[in-house]
Amino acid sequence: MAHTHDGIDWTERLAGLRRADERDAEPNLRTAERLVDLVSSGGSPPVVMDIGSGAGGMSIAFATALAARGGGRVVLADAVDVLLSAAVESTRAAAGDSVQVESVHIDAADENLPDVLPAADLVWASRVVHHLPDQQKAIDRLAQVLAPGGWLALSEGGLATRCLPWDLGIGEPGLGSRLTAAGDAWFVQMRAEMPGSVSLPVGWTSALAAAGLVDTTSFSFLIDLPAPVPEKVRLSVVDWLAWMSGVGEDALSESDRQVVQRLLDPDDEAYVARRDDVFVLGASTVHLGRRDA
Ligand SMILES: C[S@@+](CC[C@H](N)C(=O)[O-])C[C@H]1O[C@@H](n2cnc3c(N)ncnc32)[C@H](O)[C@@H]1O
Repeated sequence: MAHTHDGIDWTERLAGLRRADERDAEPNLRTAERLVDLVSSGGSPPVVMDIGSGAGGMSIAFATALAARGGGRVVLADAVDVLLSAAVESTRAAAGDSVQVESVHIDAADENLPDVLPAADLVWASRVVHHLPDQQKAIDRLAQVLAPGGWLALSEGGLATRCLPWDLGIGEPGLGSRLTAAGDAWFVQMRAEMPGSVSLPVGWTSALAAAGLVDTTSFSFLIDLPAPVPEKVRLSVVDWLAWMSGVGEDALSESDRQVVQRLLDPDDEAYVARRDDVFVLGASTVHLGRRDA
């Protein structure tokens, strides 16, 4: 039975992941188009694999990009059944007749991964490799899933998301920065407590090169939604605040925790989703490497 290694309840996160996907649909589609163009020059319709597909936002974007280029195949792969079936349903709804949508239930840390998955022209893994015990070994295995000439794209890191004005009018100014620091501290602890955890003491393009891939490079894209943002985006700010303050709880002061509690309370006048000055600004980096043809 495939399972995760990070102690996180991913099923509980479905609604929040979906809201973030809807919010980021436009930059996601631009990124999917750019990557699908890399693998569209061959004769047969491309196979695109989404490892750790979450709520399916990028699978939807890949299906849309493939449909606009004559079709292809999207394979979603995740360890969490509830997420996987929800993501497949949304992707099928967006795919149209020319794009085949399939799913595979996996543990991305499984040593037999290359035997379980079909060969793919593009393997996309967004924010999942850092949830695996041995990240280099996981990248090595994902590289083995590539068809000759295929690309592995890891979306990892970028710039920390900012959502709050510096001075909220309650509590000490700078809460956003303290939440980022608390999230970083949690991340270190999450990796340290993961059974079998191995450090990855190099950057992502070096890890791709160590997996035998060539033409390694990176690009970044912005999520830039300035205030005032619509209700749906404000709710994604609530999701962000709940996640950051939940994982970072131990590293926050008691007064920050009390402020966060008020910001997250729909019945409090300080409820963050009531504010017309919240925004979303962040950057995601995509690291790429190609298997020699
Ligand atoms: C942070 S979410 C990222 C979701 C999506 N890729 C995105 O960028 O929005 C991590 C995803 O990886 C999945 N995941 C975590 N550990 C996994 C594992 N060992 N094998 C496969 N999927 C895993 C989770 O279920 C979740 O869907």
